[in-house]
Amino acid sequence: MAARPHHFLILAALLLLIGAPSSAGAGSDGTGKVPVELYYESLCPPSALFVTYRLAEAFEDGLLEVADVTLVPYGNAEVGKDGTITCEHGPEECLLNTVEACAIDAWPDVNVHFGFINCVEELAMNETQGEWESCFHKLGLDPKPVTECYKSEHGHKLSLKYGKQTGALVPPLTGIPWVVVDGKPRDDGDFVYYICKAYKGRPPKICQEPDRHYRTAVEAGNGVSYNSGGFKLHDGVEDKIEVARVENN
Ligand SMILES: *[C@@H]1O[C@H](CO)[C@@H](O)[C@H](O)[C@H]1NC(C)=O
Repeated sequence: MAARPHHFLILAALLLLIGAPSSAGAGSDGTGKVPVELYYESLCPPSALFVTYRLAEAFEDGLLEVADVTLVPYGNAEVGKDGTITCEHGPEECLLNTVEACAIDAWPDVNVHFGFINCVEELAMNETQGEWESCFHKLGLDPKPVTECYKSEHGHKLSLKYGKQTGALVPPLTGIPWVVVDGKPRDDGDFVYYICKAYKGRPPKICQEPDRHYRTAVEAGNGVSYNSGGFKLHDGVEDKIEVARVENN
């Protein structure tokens, strides 16, 4: 019977195909996507710049295909004994940190709340953040959940929660914006490089456009090599992240 070994080969091929995604798609959070956290404060110019340029550009290029993005709007704010929050750039920053915390709470879909936060930060870049409520209309979002939240104890509680999360960082943040990729603080200029390096699946578009997102010499964990832009990695940054190569890719 000539058919038997033939069938066996097809079965073996199928098993290989079924087996491949589980080893190629294993990520730190179980979805295969790399966890990324951004710690920032609403009226800090480098934060606004990072959100509206680097992060917005990365979103456009498909960042969410490779990363689970968490925004933490708090930064260097401090909580007093009575629970009141004081912010580095004054009460307006506290207000907008809380507004952004409320946006995350109201619209858990990162595409939605990032759109809103990006809009507010674009205004902050122009120092016209007083017009932040125009972002509801601009994006066709219902103002109600965010308005009710930031004016209430709920908004305050969300800010306290982000304060706790920021305060629990190991190592503690030493600058803002503070980007944590897969549990490790990374240079905000090269964060996409580290995401692509940690990502074990097939490299999507964002990981194939190094010039747009970073200039570091790259050999991503997925086996794709990029040219160096003559940029040297910080000492000690590289050694901990030798990601195991994907063998079956
Ligand atoms: C910021 O200012 C520039 C220059 O005046 C303007 O073109 C741009 O539309 C402004 N952006 C926002 C979001 O207000």
